[in-house]
Amino acid sequence: MRLKAIAAAVLVAGLGVVGVAIAAEEGTHDARSALMKKVGGAAGAMVAIAKGEKPYDAEVVKASLTTISETAKVFPDQFKPGTEKGDKAASPKIWEDPADFKARAAKLSADASKVLAQLPPDPAAVGAAMKTLGANCGGCHEKFRIKTD
Ligand code: HEC
Repeated sequence: MRLKAIAAAVLVAGLGVVGVAIAAEEGTHDARSALMKKVGGAAGAMVAIAKGEKPYDAEVVKASLTTISETAKVFPDQFKPGTEKGDKAASPKIWEDPADFKARAAKLSADASKVLAQLPPDPAAVGAAMKTLGANCGGCHEKFRIKTD
């Protein structure tokens, strides 16, 4: 996924999602959506730095990478067998090929941890990191996410 596409996804996700994760029941669209919005918000913060819209801030980069890594780890838990009904954004392929879905989430988490271990020291490095991470977003969305807007 290109930086622009990630930024757009983040814009669509919007702000003000704090607290949604607490309210949403497990294995529902709302719970899944809340986790992805967290990932989208973190990615958006990094894209803003990469594009020079926000000043470089090591703490923001660190927190964003940590959020992506940790959220990607728990995301597949929201797709247990029997929870496929009523979520128009989640493709049935997730339940047909859970191994690939889990592997993609695990790879995003691992890639984010790897980048975190060598914290990108400037906006250009943040941009390069987002290209690596963004490929994970785009690949999984293409196969497993149904565009609803
Ligand atoms: C393992 C697969 C996978 C990966 C990796 C992944 N996503 Fe997603 N994403 C999904 C699925 C599935 C949905 C639809 C979830 C639902 O609503 O049930 C989604 C939905 C979203 C949404 C829409 C949330 C909403 O409801 O408004 C955003 C934003 C998003 N992803 C951003 C990202 C970003 C940014 C990355 C990379 C840093 C990423 N995703 C990586 C599978 C993935």
